[in-house]
Amino acid sequence: MKFQSVSFWVYLLVLLLGVFKRRDRIEMDINEIVGETKRSVNFPTKSAIYVWGYNQSGQTGRKGKDGQLRIPKQLPPELFGCPAGANARWLDIACGREHTAAVASDGSLFTWGANEFGQLGDGTEDSRKYPKKVKQLETEFVKSVSCGAHCTAAIAEPRQNDGTILSRLWVWGQNQGSNYPRLFCGAFSPNTIICQVSCGAVHVVALSEDGLLQAWGYNEYGQLGRGFTCEGLQGARVINAYAKFLDEAPELVKITQVSCGEYHTAAISEKGEVYTWGLGNMGQLGHTSLQSGDKELLPRRVVALDGIFIKDVACGGVHTCAATQKGALYAWGGGQAGQLGLGPQTGSFSFIPSESESFLRNIPALVVPTDVQHVACGHSHTLVSMRDGRIHGWGYNSYGQAANEKSTYAWYPSPVDWCVGEVRKLAAGGGHSAVLTDACSLKELCEFRLAENVTLSNASEIEDVASRTGADALARLCGRLREHLLGGDLDYEDISNRKDGTNN
Ligand SMILES: *[C@@H]1O[C@H](CO)[C@@H](O)[C@H](O)[C@H]1NC(C)=O
Ligand SMILES: *[C@@H]1O[C@H](CO)[C@@H](O)[C@H](O)[C@H]1NC(C)=O
Ligand SMILES: *[C@@H]1O[C@H](CO)[C@@H](O)[C@H](O)[C@H]1NC(C)=O
Repeated sequence: MKFQSVSFWVYLLVLLLGVFKRRDRIEMDINEIVGETKRSVNFPTKSAIYVWGYNQSGQTGRKGKDGQLRIPKQLPPELFGCPAGANARWLDIACGREHTAAVASDGSLFTWGANEFGQLGDGTEDSRKYPKKVKQLETEFVKSVSCGAHCTAAIAEPRQNDGTILSRLWVWGQNQGSNYPRLFCGAFSPNTIICQVSCGAVHVVALSEDGLLQAWGYNEYGQLGRGFTCEGLQGARVINAYAKFLDEAPELVKITQVSCGEYHTAAISEKGEVYTWGLGNMGQLGHTSLQSGDKELLPRRVVALDGIFIKDVACGGVHTCAATQKGALYAWGGGQAGQLGLGPQTGSFSFIPSESESFLRNIPALVVPTDVQHVACGHSHTLVSMRDGRIHGWGYNSYGQAANEKSTYAWYPSPVDWCVGEVRKLAAGGGHSAVLTDACSLKELCEFRLAENVTLSNASEIEDVASRTGADALARLCGRLREHLLGGDLDYEDISNRKDGTNN
């Protein structure tokens, strides 16, 4: 950051304090207000996790009133056992059907929510409404986490490490043989470096550094990509046949990213091609016709995306999204809850006609033309973050998981305007959503601090200063706050007590 902009934001902070605070408070040391700022400015100095939506099993980790769960809210650091005011940082977040997991920058993993299959990794089957560190992984430095419907997988390195053991995979929960984290090699050799893992409803796929995928779990719809379906739990096997062209023999393809949907899987090759396999009854595989009834048993290239370099793919329950380098977003599959973002009745389907065909798309459709940075698919909703820092969602919205609007279905990309900071990760689960944001600059740090203290009495003043100084996220948050108050959804107490997550 340039010197001028630092002083600009110090000026903004002083200005804000000057406008809203008693005179003696202006004398307050800047560092006391914004905390540690001596680090490199591009290194996040604070991050926050916002969670909202369905909370049946405590998966939002939030306390307070039910009515507020539609509004994204920061989980306070104290909830994770960090001292109040600590600049806790986060690396990753994932949502399962009804559970949530987050990785802190010290390598510890926290889980909360539903636990009927041991997916929290604490050895019990009791759901938990607040985050707790996964004890069994304390000897590991966790780097990333993925939540399936009822299972969890994490990639970690031993803390005591002579440099020879690199990213290993741990799994637990439904179909994983343990309700404690279990070291898992599967079909890979023990020293294979795992770079990504994705959990579906009943299957899991892990990616090695060499670009190989191994898959295990159930295979009733061909979601393990083996060329056949079978009953019962299957051990891990490496996928080595990818159908690049249907009239040529399948070959091995180097994969760079994978995502599991409910009963389907999508992966990106190093050339930016998308391969899909498993159940395709709703068009979620993106092919005009399928090789095996309603299924595709081998990974098959999505030819409709030919010539488009895909960098990100995400699978929901019955839909799939893919984003390009430039941030174009394509979606296909079932759109009955609005999860394609194409509006009602805009589907097109070339096989299996059914009553709901008007909601289905079996070939990729452009949803957002540009500027998408991150995408996450929940069971029936989709979240994206944009280059300008805004978050949009669409799809099933009964619990407010997809959008600020109050409708049951959000048919088109709609704003989620409650988060400040730079979006690092989006996560979407069965009916809940989570966003991880970082503050990398003094400006963002100021926004965070001010956002924590916005109340009814000063929301419009802060909004005014924030929008005049380009603190867009803060301005939007203030705007939303006033809107909701005017809408009469929430009483004053609810809003003014924005940090109630820690109370009672
Ligand atoms: C907004 O007002 C509340 C009290 O109503 C106060 O605690 C808070 O510090 C104010 N925020 C700012 C940024 O002045
Ligand atoms: C979320 O669910 C948990 C567990 O059912 C409950 O204790 C908690 O109060 C809920 N939070 C809200 C804000 O309703
Ligand atoms: C926010 O409020 C807390 C106490 O409510 C106070 O200590 C802090 O200085 C305030 N920060 C800002 C930026 O107004």
